[in-house]
Amino acid sequence: MLSPKMEAALNNQINAEYYSSYLYLSMAAYFDSINLPGFANWMRIQNQEEMLHTMKFFDFVSERNGRVKLAAIDGPETEWESPLAAFEATLAHEQHVTALINKLVDLALAESDHATNNFLQWFVAEQVEEEATADGILQQLRLMKDAPGGLFMMDRELGQRVFTPPADA
Ligand code: FEO
Repeated sequence: MLSPKMEAALNNQINAEYYSSYLYLSMAAYFDSINLPGFANWMRIQNQEEMLHTMKFFDFVSERNGRVKLAAIDGPETEWESPLAAFEATLAHEQHVTALINKLVDLALAESDHATNNFLQWFVAEQVEEEATADGILQQLRLMKDAPGGLFMMDRELGQRVFTPPADA
């Protein structure tokens, strides 16, 4: 059974993950608008991953006899100065999400809620990957400084990304 405080914190995370999904979908629309379909594809897949994160929290709260309460989702930004700016925002956002996950772990440990702590460890590992992936793309963009030839090559590469749900999802 979840404590009321943990239940509220997990509901906040459902909202944060849904917002992440919304943010990346907004970035997909931005990349479509500047004719970078591969970048847009990458963001669409990112949106699907965030929906999966959302549902993992949703299902966990239900499984622990908690009550899922959905709240309004903030509107994401719709424009970025450049692909580089969009990926700077992506990395900053993932660092923010990592901080949120860490706070949830702190709460689970403070409450000796081992089941929630165990559940959250999947996200601790996932955030390492999320940050590393966003940072990798950001570093490439910094190297090429939005040069059109480089962007074209990267667009082809990012267009290859496919959604592969984890085996335990
Ligand atoms: Fe759900 Fe990208 O963190």
